[in-house]
Amino acid sequence: MEHIKWKDNELILLDQRKLPQEITFVTCKTPGDIASAIRNMVVRGAPAIGITAAYGLAMSGISKRDFDADCQLLLDSRPTAVNLQWAVERMRDCYRKNHRNSKALVAEAVSIHREDIEMNRRMGDFGASLFSKPVTILTHCNAGALATGGYGTALGVIRSLYGSQKLKKVFVDETRPYLQGARLTAFELAEARIPHRVITDNSAGYFMQKRAIDAVITGADRIAANGDTANKIGTMMVAVLANYFGIPFYIAAPGTTFDLSITSGDEIPIEERGRDEVAFINGKSIVPDKSPVAHIGFDVTPGSLITGFITDRGVLHPPFQDNSH
Ligand code: MRU
Repeated sequence: MEHIKWKDNELILLDQRKLPQEITFVTCKTPGDIASAIRNMVVRGAPAIGITAAYGLAMSGISKRDFDADCQLLLDSRPTAVNLQWAVERMRDCYRKNHRNSKALVAEAVSIHREDIEMNRRMGDFGASLFSKPVTILTHCNAGALATGGYGTALGVIRSLYGSQKLKKVFVDETRPYLQGARLTAFELAEARIPHRVITDNSAGYFMQKRAIDAVITGADRIAANGDTANKIGTMMVAVLANYFGIPFYIAAPGTTFDLSITSGDEIPIEERGRDEVAFINGKSIVPDKSPVAHIGFDVTPGSLITGFITDRGVLHPPFQDNSH
């Protein structure tokens, strides 16, 4: 299934808000449509929002809009994933170098999309080579095909492990409140017939204590030069647990997720989202109207808790240098 499809100068996005119950698509015709699809989580996941923004800027070039204003519009759509910034800057560079040529902009967006899939496949091979016998993996959020151009980062490694008969099963954290694990990761694993079990977020410690988990692999939204890593809220709790139980904790991410302009995770902007995503489930309120809610989208796992970074260039360790990506 193509979840990000460029056709006749429009971008057709699989609506990830409706999965797994409904397979529906949203058609974006303007950069503004793309910015709201990103903000409203029609499309989500660090590499996927970068790719989507790149197509938005191709649209901007085609319709001869104010390119810099559209760059800003897209940059403002979500703050944490650095892939968005990276893709906007690459498109801006292309715009300048090719004298605003819209064909070049479309070709650049298509390349960003294609290269992301290629990086994920390489990451899958590097990740699978870390394990010599069949393992059970825990993952958090969705770092699969849906969160990327295709194949996935953490889930790409899991796909490669499965392909090389080195996977027993996957534990999938449901990932409150947006339920990327229960709705999206489980959907992808079920489609690929990969053995898995969805667990509540507060069950991870139980299964680690029972020695049922051999390693944790998650994706990332932004990695600082010292290895501090922002990913979906709850990732840091899992890393602390893994550390306590002596279980290896890996991040799988392409070069486009590294932000070497920042020295530590303290500088990563953390998104806060609206009340309703926490206070409502399936349109039903589960929190008293008078109770305020705090909804932090991401947390930062200290680099010291991360066993290794599975990247498209191999398994790396901090500190990361400018020339490493
Ligand atoms: O809020 P989301 O769903 O965009 O958050 C996504 C994550 O945190 C993913 O784990 C991360 O982007 C890695 S995607 C390959």
